[in-house]
Amino acid sequence: MTKAQVLDVSVWRGGVSGEFVAYRVPRHDNQTVLDVVTYIQRHLDPTLSYRFACRVGVCGSCAMTVNGSPKWTCRTHVERVANGHRLSLSPLRNLPVIKDLVVDMRTFFTKWRRARGYFISAGTREDAFARVRPDSAQRRQADKGIECINCAVCYAACDVVSWKPDYLGPAALNRVWTLINDARDEHRDLHLAAVASDDGCLGCHGQQACLQHCPMGLNPAAGIAGLKRTVALAALRGEL
Ligand code: FES
Repeated sequence: MTKAQVLDVSVWRGGVSGEFVAYRVPRHDNQTVLDVVTYIQRHLDPTLSYRFACRVGVCGSCAMTVNGSPKWTCRTHVERVANGHRLSLSPLRNLPVIKDLVVDMRTFFTKWRRARGYFISAGTREDAFARVRPDSAQRRQADKGIECINCAVCYAACDVVSWKPDYLGPAALNRVWTLINDARDEHRDLHLAAVASDDGCLGCHGQQACLQHCPMGLNPAAGIAGLKRTVALAALRGEL
C-alpha cells in the first residue's frame, strides 16, 4: 500500500499511566474515525477497548479525543480531521480513564443529578397529556437545548471543568435550562436553586468551547447565560 492508502494511527493504550501505540490502517473513502478504531480492534488488536452503540449519531457513546479535539467518532470522517495521514486517538478529557479509549462517565451523570437535571411533575398516569404549544416563547427556549445526546463532548471541551472539577459542566446546565422552560415541570425553584452557585451556572466563563465542539450544533453557553439571567431575577425577587 502507498502512503496515501494508509493511515498512521496513534492510540492511547492502558489507563492513566498508559502510552500511545502506533497502528497502520488501510484508508478508504468516506471512512469514519469509528471505522478506524473498529478496524484496529477487529484486525490488529482485539484487546483494544472503546465504546459505541448506534453508529449513526444518536446514542452519544462513541466520543473520544481525535487529534486533540473531542469528537463523536461515528459521524466524524477521517478526511475532515486527519493531519495528512496521521490520526491520534485518546480518551475524552476531564473524565477518569478506565482503559484505552473508555472513560468512566459516572462523574458526568452524577452532575446531572446534582443539577437536578431531571423532569419533576406532580402529574399522574391518569392525567391527560399536557399540551405545550410549539410556538410558545418557553418552548422555543427549550428547543435550542433539547437535542442533547449526552455524549460529553462539551464536558471534555470545557476548560472550567478542568480547572474546577466540581463545576457542573455545560451538558447538565443545558439540561436544567430546558427544564426551567418546560411548562409541565413543577419545580422550577428546585432546578434553579441547584445551579445558582459558583459550581453551577455562575462558574461559566463564557469561553464557548461547548458551542464550538457540540456535534449536534447546540449552544449550551446560551442556555447557561439564560440560567444566569433567571437566577439573578429570582434573587432580586427574593425567590432564592
Ligand atoms: S455510536 Fe452512537 S453517537 Fe456514535
